[in-house]
Amino acid sequence: MKSTAKKLIVAAAFVPTVAFAWPWSTDMMNQPSIKPQEGTPAAFPKRSIPVMGNPTQVSNREEAKGLKNPIEPTQASLDKGKDLFKIICGACHGNTGKADSPVTDKIGAISLVDDYVQGLDEGWIWGTITFGSFVMPAYGVPGPQGGSNDLSPEERWHVVNYVKHQLVKDAAGDSVASTAGDSVASNE
Ligand code: HEC
Repeated sequence: MKSTAKKLIVAAAFVPTVAFAWPWSTDMMNQPSIKPQEGTPAAFPKRSIPVMGNPTQVSNREEAKGLKNPIEPTQASLDKGKDLFKIICGACHGNTGKADSPVTDKIGAISLVDDYVQGLDEGWIWGTITFGSFVMPAYGVPGPQGGSNDLSPEERWHVVNYVKHQLVKDAAGDSVASTAGDSVASNE
């Protein structure tokens, strides 16, 4: 009998609602510390917040026209650009940019090795990747066709470097190979 009473008291001490009701209970919230939203927040250290994917100074493709490419077309940049090209652009424009992917015709993706695109301003191409085009979705900001910020500003310049400095060469190499294959096939 005695031990049952003891057990009850112990049990009561552990029931939170009851424990809060004791006059000596204090709320941990009420203590001399800085509360959320209280006072002026300290400035975040520089570069501590990722801002990748935000367009830099421009807000549409027209404004991107004439932007100077800040990244030299070094081999390292071309290699990065090529990897990204195959991951993202190849799906519609073909892995060699020659408008030969299985969906090219379905969506009207154009050849990127033709004179038209090769003659485009680098800033315009960067802007096309950033904001999308008419059918092409954006890869720098969510755009009218949905779009994403899959490519950081630097990554977009690497792709521009690849498109302007190596894509045509790679595509030519590819066509030599496929021409050779074709002629073997036609000899049969
Ligand atoms: C989902 C399909 C799709 C993907 C992925 C895609 N494009 Fe396009 N792209 C298109 C289509 C369709 C057009 C032609 C119609 C238009 O302008 O929207 C086009 C047009 C272009 C043009 C010509 C713009 C102009 O001024 O006429 C460039 C340059 C281009 N794409 C580059 C790229 C690059 C570089 C990538 C990779 C980052 C890429 N595209 C990824 C579909 C795509």
